[in-house]
Amino acid sequence: MREVSQQARALRAQLVDALVADGTIRTPSVEAALRTVPRHVFAPEATLPDAYADAAVVTKTGDNTLALSSVSAPQVIAMMLELLDVHPGHRVLEIGSGGYNAALLRELVGTTGHVTTLDIDPWVTDRAARFLGEAGYPDVTVLCADGEYGAPDNAPFDRIIVTAGSSDIPPAWLAQLTPDGRLVVPLRLGNLTRAIAFNRRGFHLDSDGYGPCGFVPMQGAGEGRERLELLADEDVALRLDGPMRVNGPALSAALTQPGTDVWTGVTVGQQEPFDDLELYLSTLPGFCRLAATKAAFDKGIVDASWRTASPAIVDGDSFAYRMRPRPVDEDHTTFEFGVRGHGPNGAEVAERYAEQIRTWSKLQRGGPGALFTVHPAGTPDTDLPDGFVIDKPHTRVAISWP
Ligand SMILES: C[S@@+](CC[C@H](N)C(=O)[O-])C[C@H]1O[C@@H](n2cnc3c(N)ncnc32)[C@H](O)[C@@H]1O
Repeated sequence: MREVSQQARALRAQLVDALVADGTIRTPSVEAALRTVPRHVFAPEATLPDAYADAAVVTKTGDNTLALSSVSAPQVIAMMLELLDVHPGHRVLEIGSGGYNAALLRELVGTTGHVTTLDIDPWVTDRAARFLGEAGYPDVTVLCADGEYGAPDNAPFDRIIVTAGSSDIPPAWLAQLTPDGRLVVPLRLGNLTRAIAFNRRGFHLDSDGYGPCGFVPMQGAGEGRERLELLADEDVALRLDGPMRVNGPALSAALTQPGTDVWTGVTVGQQEPFDDLELYLSTLPGFCRLAATKAAFDKGIVDASWRTASPAIVDGDSFAYRMRPRPVDEDHTTFEFGVRGHGPNGAEVAERYAEQIRTWSKLQRGGPGALFTVHPAGTPDTDLPDGFVIDKPHTRVAISWP
C-alpha cells in the first residue's frame, strides 16, 4: 500500500511538472490541487502509470463503443480549472461527475466553500460518491440528475463547470449563477468543441478565454448529437451539426470526379498549434467536418488533413475540405495548407475556402482569438454584437474576432 502511494506520488509529480512546464497550469492553487488529489483512486480500472498519463480513462462505453463516461484528461481538466478561476469560499457546481475533478474543486474552494457534482447516470454518481469518500472528500454533494436543469436546491453558484460536450447553454445554468458568476463549458459550435469561459452579464454571457477540448456527449433533455451523412459507399462521412442538411447523393457523385486543389501559400511549423484556424473556418456558411476510413485514403478517394475531423464546407452540390498539408522544405518541418474542392462548383468553393485561410493568417493568426457572446433565443439581431451568429434552441451565440 505504502509502495503504491509512493509510486503514485512520483507519477503525479511528473504529470504536474509537465503541465506546469507546458504552461497549462498557471496558478499555484491549481498546481497544488493537482499535486494533492490522488487521481488513481478515481480510476481503479487503470494501471498506476495509465492513471497518471495525460489521457482520459474511459470508465463506461455505450453499445457502439462510444465513450459515455470517463475521468477526463489532466491537461483538459487543468486548462478548464484555470479558466474557471475558483477561489476559497466559492460555491461550485460541476455537471458531469467522475469524482476526480470534484475533488480538485474541493481543494480549490477549501473548507469555507462547497462543491456539488451531478451526473445523469447513477452508476457514475455511486462510484463518484464512494471514491470521494475514500480520497478524503466526503463533504462534496453528489447528485443524480439531468444537468440540463442544474441543481436548483443548491444554487446560486459562483462557478459552474460542465464536463460533457454541450450543444447549447440551457437557461438554468445562467439563472443559477451569482450575478458575477462564471461558467466554463465545452460548447459545440458548428461541429467544433471549445471549452469556453463565460462571465455572467445580467441576462447574457460574455467570454474571456477558451481552449480546445474533446468530451463525451451530453445525454438527457439537452442531447444534441451530430449526424453523419455517408458518402462514397460509406468510406467517407460528413459530420453535421444541428439542423444542417446536405444533398448526400450529389456530394457522393461529386466525390467520384477528380477534385481541384488550391494551395494557399500559408505555412505552418510542425509543432505550431493552429486551433484558431479551425474555429475561424467554422464561421464559414456550410461548415462541417469530413471523416474518412483508412481505405478511403488508401484508394485515393480523399487526401484530408485529419482522418476523422477535417474542416470542410458544403455549398449545394459541391464541397471542399482541407487537405493533408504539403511539406515546403527538405527537412519536412514546415507545411503549406491546401484545399481540395469537388463538384460542379468545387473549384470556386475551394478558392473561397483557401481565401478564408489566407485571411485568418493575415488578420488573426497569433492574435487574442475569438469572443463569444451568448444571448437568449429570440434576442433581436440589433442587440447582438457584430459577428457570426449560431442559433441554438435556447440561445443565440455570436462569435466575433476583435
Ligand atoms: C467526461 S465525464 C466527466 C468527467 C469528470 N468530471 C471527471 O472528474 O473526470 C462526462 C460525464 O457527463 C455525464 N453526463 C452526460 N450527460 C449528462 C447530463 N445531461 N447531466 C449530467 N451528467 C451528464 C456522463 O454520464 C459522464 O459521466
